[in-house]
Amino acid sequence: MATMDNVNYRIPAYFWQPPPLLDTLETETSTVQKETVNDCLPLLNGINDPCRSPFDFNEFGLPCLEREAHIGFLQQSLDEYPAPFVGIDASRPWMVYWALVGLYMLGEDVSVFRARVVKTFYSMQNPNGGIGGGFGQDAHQAGTYAALLSLALVGGEEAYSLVDREKMWHWLGRLKQADGGFQICEGGEEDTRGALCALIAISLLNLPLSLPPDSPARDAGIETFKDGLGEYLSRCQTYEGGVAASPGGEAHGSYAFCALACLCLYGPPHETIPKFLDVDALIWWLSSRQYAPEGGFAGRTNKLVDGCYSHWLGGCWPLAQAAVSGPRDSAGDKARDVSENLYSSEGLARYILCCCQAKGGGLRDKPSKRPDSYHTCYNLSGLSIVEHSHSYGTSDGDDLFGSALTWQSSKAEIPSERDASKTFETSAGVREVHPVFVIPHEAAMAMREWSLARPLDVQGAE
Ligand code: FPP
Ligand code: ZN
Repeated sequence: MATMDNVNYRIPAYFWQPPPLLDTLETETSTVQKETVNDCLPLLNGINDPCRSPFDFNEFGLPCLEREAHIGFLQQSLDEYPAPFVGIDASRPWMVYWALVGLYMLGEDVSVFRARVVKTFYSMQNPNGGIGGGFGQDAHQAGTYAALLSLALVGGEEAYSLVDREKMWHWLGRLKQADGGFQICEGGEEDTRGALCALIAISLLNLPLSLPPDSPARDAGIETFKDGLGEYLSRCQTYEGGVAASPGGEAHGSYAFCALACLCLYGPPHETIPKFLDVDALIWWLSSRQYAPEGGFAGRTNKLVDGCYSHWLGGCWPLAQAAVSGPRDSAGDKARDVSENLYSSEGLARYILCCCQAKGGGLRDKPSKRPDSYHTCYNLSGLSIVEHSHSYGTSDGDDLFGSALTWQSSKAEIPSERDASKTFETSAGVREVHPVFVIPHEAAMAMREWSLARPLDVQGAE
């Protein structure tokens, strides 16, 4: 129902009204979708809640970000866990990463965690070179990805020197497959996660691009980590336009992010993304994942909005935009910024701030769920994407990962959807992170520079 308040507060009608068109066929899917909308609408319309003060909302009808409560929640997520949590033991590298990058985005100094992080990861490095979820656990690329990003986040010699880069090179060499992709662990599944994690490790650690002599992929004529990779990712794009875990699978937002971020490392986004993906189909698919009135993203067709896709899908937009608009010109031309046309960043901010903040701190999937550090981190990352514009420049010389290190962020200036004369503001003030590495720009740069200064002197490396 229309009220003076949501009109005054410039909330576009499609973010406070039930959807105008409903499926007439009732299914389990349509029922849970209806329940989700019913849970979200009162929160999206919080300004009309008689129990809340209008002073708790900004002029766009958005509640404030409960910064201190979220900081407390993430700090607590780094404490010890009771025995029933043993099932998530292998996710420890991730829990460290989610807390650290979340705290960073909330304005905290995460270098104070350096000693703890180094101590934690020291025992997780498997003698084969990769990093596992804990002492004695098998090395896994997902844990390795989270561990490397955490080490970069805390920074410093002690953190960078922890990794045995030569062994890591050999381990990744064993994961490279004859068809161009990467396994997530030895003998494990081959998917787009494996491809992104491998390129993140290779770029941050400055590992040689040529495959180690003992890499089985060499038997198929493959010589470098990049060989066949773009073609592999091409085969992961589905008939819907999105990207699947592996060829023939279902398109899912998390894999779209993995593929796009991987291609942004592989080369300049305006060259690599259109070369290997059908960009029009991809953008159509990405756009179809954002719902109204909720404003958030669903991970795949006919599924529900979920706060973690604020990152996995929200994070695709700066990368897809880069593919469309190309590098900044030397004058840093902002006229090519088309972010406001590609998705509703205002809708995303509404979902995160209105529907995903839990009362005692932490952010969640949706109103019916409890908060956790994964959803806290990736909702904050979504807000950070809303609040910043990202662009990349042209790199000098032949540094392969050069273009990935030229990304810059500035404050986003997006017109309000209700009143284009106003610039939309979330008032959340979340810090920017690198859109590909998802850690601070300086943190990615510092780890890579430390590694560039120490090239690996290994047999068969170029
Ligand atoms: C489905 O969950 C979720 C997936 C199929 C993808 C999970 C993958 C990631 C989060 C990417 C990991 C990235 C790296 C870099 C390792 P679901 O069926 O519970 O959720 P849904 O109903 O929302 O699809
Ligand atoms: Zn989720």
